[in-house]
Formats: sequence, structure tokens, C-alpha cells
Amino acid sequence: MITKDSINKIIKESINAPSGSNSQPWQFIVDGQKNNIKIKYLPHKDHPILNYNNRGTLIACGALIENILITANYYGFSTELNLFENFENDIIAEIILREGEPNYFAKNLFDYISKRTTNRKKFKKEIINQNDKNYLFSDISKYGNFKFYIKEEEPEINELAQNLAYDTYLNFKNSKLHEILFKEILFDDRKAKIGEQGLYIKTMEFPSIQIPIIKLLKNRNFFEFLDKFIGISKSIYKDTVKMYSACGALVAITLSNNQKDFINLGRLLENIWLKITKLGLSLHLITGILFFWQQANFGDKNIFNEDEKELINKSYNEIKKIFNVNNEDIIGLIFRIGKSDPPSAKSTKKEPIIIFK
Ligand SMILES: Cc1cc2nc3c(=O)[nH]c(=O)nc-3n(C[C@H](O)[C@H](O)[C@H](O)COP(=O)(O)O)c2cc1C
Repeated sequence: MITKDSINKIIKESINAPSGSNSQPWQFIVDGQKNNIKIKYLPHKDHPILNYNNRGTLIACGALIENILITANYYGFSTELNLFENFENDIIAEIILREGEPNYFAKNLFDYISKRTTNRKKFKKEIINQNDKNYLFSDISKYGNFKFYIKEEEPEINELAQNLAYDTYLNFKNSKLHEILFKEILFDDRKAKIGEQGLYIKTMEFPSIQIPIIKLLKNRNFFEFLDKFIGISKSIYKDTVKMYSACGALVAITLSNNQKDFINLGRLLENIWLKITKLGLSLHLITGILFFWQQANFGDKNIFNEDEKELINKSYNEIKKIFNVNNEDIIGLIFRIGKSDPPSAKSTKKEPIIIFK
């Protein structure tokens, strides 16, 4: 008998998945007769500019799905995953639970689900050993047609960081992005503790003396004043380059342009992230330029002005060139990995919405 309690427990232990600004864009519909969990995606919760074709939402839900498969198997159920093609009623997938031999190859990663977290500290510039690297990327082919590229030499890491860091620069410079950024930053400890959506300021690893200044930058006129007289966006850019280049490696994962693959990309990301956690290493996603590029070229073309579009295209093409990515593939994710002190704070997840039928 698969009880309501065990399904509740599986879902609650699975929700520590990454999502854009901790948006947690998911809901669950459980059919007790059929023992299945349907996953409904909630794209409206995600940053509209960083979510071309709802792909950020699909990646987050993919990571969540991976956690559910691992957790259900850890508790002794076998699972069957069905990803849907047409997302009818925003249901993107179902997981059917059965009593019987657990069948999921990654069930031994369960212990690391609750420990996985984003770390935005500067990591040590120390190469990751070959055995660890083999382990981290050993399961890629199980998730679909993905390729991974890794750069570990300092000059290449620096060049990549210089291109990737334009995400933060544009987050301040572009007035629409600036507005959304400040809507997403959570300054309130109490709200962060109850798992409210947003980027908890203490996870952003700014030196504490900078936090009052960051708060003031919310005011667009004040930001523009400081930018004109002391070039604040340039100094934010330089600090971001230092942060992005502080790592053992930068990794890119590529895929073809198929929508369903973004769910599997999220599953793959979670597989790598749980292994990173198991090895005592840290991971930080850096996806701004990737999503800006998709939005500027295939989505809403009015968000960026001509100079911004040129900067985005130039940066994306440079990144592709440095990683040696095939022309027809797109880069789905980039992240830095390495040894690090633990993050100063972790984001929390709110109670999931589970509808029992
Ligand atoms: C599709 C996607 C893109 C993300 N891009 C970034 C990014 O560019 N920079 C960043 O610092 N975090 C990024 N994140 C990480 C989220 O901000 C993070 O997962 C969220 O705040 C919850 O924190 P947690 O990972 O510690 O649970 C991304 C997450 C997802 C799912």
C-alpha cells in the first residue's frame, strides 16, 4: 500500500531543487488510486526575461523530478517517469510509484538532496582531480543527447568570466532588468526563512558593508547618478569577473533546440550537483548571458537596445568559441565548480502545494 503519508514525505524531501531566484515553480497533483504524482509547472513564477520559452522553469522542474525519483526509490518504491509532449493543463510529467524493487540507478544520492545548495563564494583556483571529474560526468548519456565542456586553465577561465559577467552588468544597466532584480532580492531574513521566493541577500555573498549601498541602488535615479560620476556598473562588473573566475573549472552543457530536453537538462544538472555535494565541492550556476541571448534572438526583441544586443551576441559567441561548442548546439547551462568554504547562508523552500484527488 502506498499511503498518502509516504507520498507527502517523498514530495517534501524532494523540493530542495534549484530554481531561478528560488521561484519554486511547481505544484503536485496526486492520484491515490493510480499511485502517481503529476508535476504541474508554473512558468509565471519565473523571471520573464531569464525564461525564454519557459526553459528556466523546465530546468527547475527537471531537477525536482530527479529528486522525486531518487527519494521514492530510496524509500523502496520502483518508479516510472513519463514526460509529456504537449504540457496539457501545464502538466509536464508524471511519476508512477509501485511497490517492488527500487529500479533507479541514482537512488544512492538521496543523502545529498537536503544538503545541496548554491554557493556564490569565491572558490579555490585548484584543479579538480581526474577521478572526481570522471565520477561527476559519468551519467550524462543516461539523460539524453547532451555534451559537456570543461575549462580549467586560468587564461581561459578569465576570458570566460569576462564574457559571462556582462549578465550582472546588464542587470543594473538595463532599466527593466534593474527593476526585476530589485523585486527579486530578499532583504528580509524572516521572509527568507519561510522559503519565500527571491534571491536571499545573504546568499549573494556581498561584503556586509556593501549591503546598505546595494539597497540604495534600487532607486534608479540614484543608480544613474552614481554610474555617471563613479562608474558603479563598471565596478560591479569587475567584482563579478573576480567571482566568476574564482573556481577550479567552468563547465558548459549543450543540447539541441528541443523543448522537452530542458526537463532532462534539469535532471542531469541535479545528478551532477548531488555528486558535487557528495564530494564536498561547490557549484554556482551562471546562466544570465545564455538566457539573454535566447531572449534577444528568438524571444521578445524589445527588451534590449541595439548596443545591449551586440554585447550579448558578442559575449555568447565568444563563450561558445572558448568552449569549442559546435555551431548547431546551444549552451543550456554554465556553472563554476570547485573547493570552497560553505556559503554564508542557504535559501529555504516553502511548503509545497499538493492536491490529492
Ligand atoms: C535555470 C536556472 C538558472 C539559474 N541561474 C543562476 C544564475 O545565473 N546565477 C545564480 O547565482 N544562480 C542561478 N540559479 C540558482 C538559483 O538562484 C538557486 O537555485 C535558487 O536561488 C535556490 O537556491 P538553492 O540552489 O541554494 O536551493 C539558477 C537556477 C536555475 C534553476
